[in-house]
Amino acid sequence: MLVDGHGRKVDYLRVSVTERCNFRCQYCMPEKPFSWVPKENLLSYEDLFKFIKVGIDEGIRKVRITGGEPLLREGLDKFINMIYKYDNTLDLALTTNAFLLPRAAQKLKDAGLRRINVSLDSLKEDVAAKIAQKNVLKTVLKGIDKANEVGLKIKVNCVPMKGINDDELVDILEYCRERGYEVRFIEFMENVHAKDGAKGLNSEEIQKIIREKYNFVKKERTGSSPSQDYVLDDGYVFGIIEPHKDDFCATCNRIRLTASGVLIPCLFFEESQSIKEAIQANDIDKAAAILKDVLANKPEKNKWNAEDGNETSTRAFYETGG
Ligand code: 5AD
Ligand code: SF4
Repeated sequence: MLVDGHGRKVDYLRVSVTERCNFRCQYCMPEKPFSWVPKENLLSYEDLFKFIKVGIDEGIRKVRITGGEPLLREGLDKFINMIYKYDNTLDLALTTNAFLLPRAAQKLKDAGLRRINVSLDSLKEDVAAKIAQKNVLKTVLKGIDKANEVGLKIKVNCVPMKGINDDELVDILEYCRERGYEVRFIEFMENVHAKDGAKGLNSEEIQKIIREKYNFVKKERTGSSPSQDYVLDDGYVFGIIEPHKDDFCATCNRIRLTASGVLIPCLFFEESQSIKEAIQANDIDKAAAILKDVLANKPEKNKWNAEDGNETSTRAFYETGG
């Protein structure tokens, strides 16, 4: 079992396979980074898999593949199948912007993937295009339909932004409720890579908008999901991810690996250690030792919360998919 320096059990590994993306979401990567990590610096799927095995053997029970946009990296279904074959009881998930799902969904399902989280920030073509800086909505909706059709379980992520999509939160909730997808509204996490002036809605503002149409109650928090769940009168559950709350980090159970082999213990901080050399040298003990050292030094909490001064993160979210 893996336990961090603050006594939190860590059993969830997020693995980014690329920082590249075919969208330029305003809250994440409004402009292409000055330079991408050169492809030769990326860990191969074999090397990423070697580290994932280390994690599983040490107690990881959930693996999520992220990006950038993970489906931009060729052969992702084969990578997923490598992990699935090693441990088919693992909670194996993928976060994607859904644009490439129309043709990828079936292969992903066949490879052993169970569920996906997709971004859906607007149901209006022009607004979706403004957020992602590309005309994406039709293909995204088709991708989500296809994923549903092949039997992947779906959760929807939506980042409410002031003056952009804040008039659509109920529509997005209803779109998800009608289809049996859980929706999670994510408070915008301020970071230096986001578009200047981007402003998110906080949990109270999101709740106020939904309450104009629906009654709901707060659900008791269980487990280590980052989302605070709320239940509508008809039983439908939606979530709000509230990183600005000072207790948000108390149940954190996760660690992140970038596509170039860097282990990042916290979403807010850039602090990290590389496992690349150890993995490429097949030094499994060393890789496990680095993992434990990173966890021993995992920060207690982020600095977005008011108590810590509402700071802005310098980390690039596209390195590890939020
Ligand atoms: N704030 C909140 N959520 C973000 N995401 C990416 N960047 C941010 C940010 N700055 C979320 C998006 C996307 C997922 C990969 O990460 O909801 O769905
Ligand atoms: Fe790409 Fe996801 Fe970042 Fe949007 S949030 S730019 S889809 S990595």
